[in-house]
Amino acid sequence: MDQKKRIFSGIQPSGDLTLGSYMGAIKNWVELSGGYECFYCIVDLHAITARQVPAELRKRTLSQIAQYIACGLDPDNNTLFIQSHVPAHAELAWVLECYTMFGELSRMTQFKDKSSKNADNINAGLFTYPALMAADILLYQTDLVPIGDDQKQHVELTRDIAQRFNAVYGDVFKVPEHFIPKIGARIMSLQVPENKMSKSDAAAGGCVYLMDSPDVIMKAFKRAVTDSDTVVRYDPESKKGISNLMTIYSAATGKSFAEIENAFAGKGYGDFKTAVGESVVELLRPIRERAETLLKNKDYLTEVYKKGADRAARTAAGTLRKVYKKLGFVERQ
Ligand code: TYM
Repeated sequence: MDQKKRIFSGIQPSGDLTLGSYMGAIKNWVELSGGYECFYCIVDLHAITARQVPAELRKRTLSQIAQYIACGLDPDNNTLFIQSHVPAHAELAWVLECYTMFGELSRMTQFKDKSSKNADNINAGLFTYPALMAADILLYQTDLVPIGDDQKQHVELTRDIAQRFNAVYGDVFKVPEHFIPKIGARIMSLQVPENKMSKSDAAAGGCVYLMDSPDVIMKAFKRAVTDSDTVVRYDPESKKGISNLMTIYSAATGKSFAEIENAFAGKGYGDFKTAVGESVVELLRPIRERAETLLKNKDYLTEVYKKGADRAARTAAGTLRKVYKKLGFVERQ
């Protein structure tokens, strides 16, 4: 029997899961999961590149596992785990840092962006972050990495690192491809549609979280920034707010942009915003309810992440052993 191809992807528990991370990543993880052997990680090592409140980080990490399952990732068929439980990630990251160039890391948009926003904490981890992400992916001999648009540059760097390493030591790593959805790869803030919707969005109501109540969601969509025009039309250049709402509506309902434009021809923005809000409420309702139930069963969640770490560690150990051998490290007895 042919071995299934592999998927790896992860999300930082640096904030609660957002509609952006759902539409850009998790939704596609679920859709792809049947055809692949999947490793979905909560990347807590990545999260400490920014200061975290320990108790909140712990709580968010557990909640994130519950939300992964609630979104439709069955832990029996997908390996769901916490990055810090598999030490091979940190170990391979060090090796790959020695095969990643200072210049490459300096060119990373996310580094430039995050360091300009956190001028008082430009730590070395923030800089070498993409090497850790490369380690995550390469440890599992990953074929496909489903991500949103903003992570594309990091996956491209991962490919370069893999190719560089393979050129010296032979075929050690599978060179992965990214998977970026046609719709939803870049969900924008509801308040500042020029900016990506992000966990740490400062503008109140700009970000929708998977665990938000229907009330909060409706309020955010009713207050969403649009434009002074009145036509529901997809034009991401001059109608950023409306185009973002159309993208969200399309991802939530499966309707095409043309169908949406027709359905709302001659209607005002108010009707449209209500429809988008309702579609998101209905999309997220079962996820929130399921996650709330799962969160009451800590024993079950513990069993999931324990089993996940065991499975992930077994696969990761094979790659790390091979890498160490190629490098000339004496094998541990
Ligand atoms: P993170 O935690 O910022 O985001 C998680 C995933 O969600 C996508 N995403 C979005 N997609 C569309 N619109 C948005 N507004 C939006 N916001 C977030 C991201 O593109 C990402 O796919 N470095 C990664 C985490 C990571 C990783 C990995 C991913 C670490 N190791 C290995 C893949 C493979 C990050 O910070 O994503």
